[in-house]
Amino acid sequence: MVSHLDGWLMIYWLTQTLSAHPDLARAVMPPGLLSVSEQRRCETFTVEKRRRDWLLGRWTAKHLAQAVLGSCAESDLNEIEIATNPNGAPYLADYRDWSLSISHSADRAFCALSDIGSIGVDIERIEARQVAFVEDFFTPAEQIRLTDLPERQRHVAITVIWSAKESGLKTLQCGLTVDSRTMDCRFTWTEDQWKPLEITVDTQRIAEAPNRLYGWWKADATFVYTLAATKQAHPVEVTIPPIMNDGQN
Ligand SMILES: CC(C)(COP(=O)(O)OP(=O)(O)OC[C@H]1O[C@@H](n2cnc3c(N)ncnc32)[C@H](O)[C@@H]1OP(=O)(O)O)[C@@H](O)C(=O)NCCC(=O)NCCS
Repeated sequence: MVSHLDGWLMIYWLTQTLSAHPDLARAVMPPGLLSVSEQRRCETFTVEKRRRDWLLGRWTAKHLAQAVLGSCAESDLNEIEIATNPNGAPYLADYRDWSLSISHSADRAFCALSDIGSIGVDIERIEARQVAFVEDFFTPAEQIRLTDLPERQRHVAITVIWSAKESGLKTLQCGLTVDSRTMDCRFTWTEDQWKPLEITVDTQRIAEAPNRLYGWWKADATFVYTLAATKQAHPVEVTIPPIMNDGQN
């Protein structure tokens, strides 16, 4: 189900866990999910965790695309082909005007889809990170903004900054092939579920990049979720009916 927000450009998102589908948890390709070429790609993943993550990402992204685009019946997700660029970025083969982004962490996938321009998403588990991590990967300005935060808030803030960088780098389709300090992330703490974040891009070091990306973040007890985009747009959650126990959905 998709709800719309009047007057906003929108980024549709969906999150799913591995436990929601009995086949995925066993790293088995669910019937009707993958096209023939996707089945071939899946067979190349010999490490079970990688195969599970990849399948969970495809299953989540295809349900998202089906709900937003309504291009096929719920039972025919294999008609939605998710192809991959040589740089690893996924895209919908039949909807090249739409930007798709996929992330997975600890048996959970987080995907987003939008037609506003390029987008990137990331999900990260909240955990304590070493001081050296912050010194190596964060800009001096980000490091200053972290000072004096209470311990739990500091763990969340570090996770948000790291996740926002990954979302930003996915938006520009470069991933971590470029220095994470080419992006400076600033964000607010509010009571809202999704809180705005802004990413300033070092355009001297990333050719043809916009100097600014727009984003959002939210956290629960375990994870931080971030979205980044080349245009300002609002996150809209997509919900799908729970899966039947026999895997037919
Ligand atoms: C992109 C990257 C930052 C993801 O980091 P991560 O935290 O390990 O993993 P996440 O679960 O958050 O994201 C993985 C997803 O990002 C997407 N992705 C991979 N490379 C991408 C890129 N260059 N641009 C945008 N999205 C990308 C894919 O959908 C991938 O999942 P999938 O392979 O199951 O489809 C990381 O893979 C990276 O830096 N890659 C560098 C580029 C690279 O090595 N490409 C591989 C060439 S084949």
